[in-house]
Amino acid sequence: MSTIRLGDIAPDFLAQTTEGEINFHDWLGDSWGVLFSHPADYTPVCTTELGTVANYKAEFDKRNVKVIALSVDGIDSHHGWIKDINETQNTVVNFPIVADEDRKVSTLYDMIHPNSDDKMTVRSVFVIGADKKVKLTITYPASTGRNFDELLRVIDSLQLTAYHKVATPANWNNGDDCVIVPSVSNEEIPGIFPKGHREVKPYLRLTPQPNLD
Ligand code: BEZ
Repeated sequence: MSTIRLGDIAPDFLAQTTEGEINFHDWLGDSWGVLFSHPADYTPVCTTELGTVANYKAEFDKRNVKVIALSVDGIDSHHGWIKDINETQNTVVNFPIVADEDRKVSTLYDMIHPNSDDKMTVRSVFVIGADKKVKLTITYPASTGRNFDELLRVIDSLQLTAYHKVATPANWNNGDDCVIVPSVSNEEIPGIFPKGHREVKPYLRLTPQPNLD
């Protein structure tokens, strides 16, 4: 077990999945990634989550993000469950699910919290950048389904920081003004942010979202 912190290289692994054997780093390639765990197969909240992610595939693709789920049950169980997910959530599961029967990956990523439950994983989320570094970790309890709109919102924020030198303020949503990161000097602003900026305080400088027309 290891604690995974922001900025760490996401641990690599070799795993059996519903789409064949995957070497995690090779599978990620140049993409960003989301790795998320599910307490167990054939559970109600997880069924809705996996259906939701399948229906959001185009949104993840648009952001160059590959998604991979994990549950500590086996491949045959996963395939049977996928049929139920497709049927009940009106979708086709279109991403791999790790069959982590030996709990190798869930242990590597500290997804089992024994004081919560010693068999099932919690609902962990790891967002991994194109540099293979962990950009976000969130842990939800088994009883709370994740908000995947929030996950896309955070990915948008992370990518704005990675590619456009802006951060995002409280309750930011796509299209709102962004915060110029402190490492950009006032002298550099006109060259980097041609749409202009507004200085609320010397340390709080806002600019229109850079990646929109
Ligand atoms: C579920 O995925 O539905 C679930 C799993 C464990 C506890 C509660 C709900």
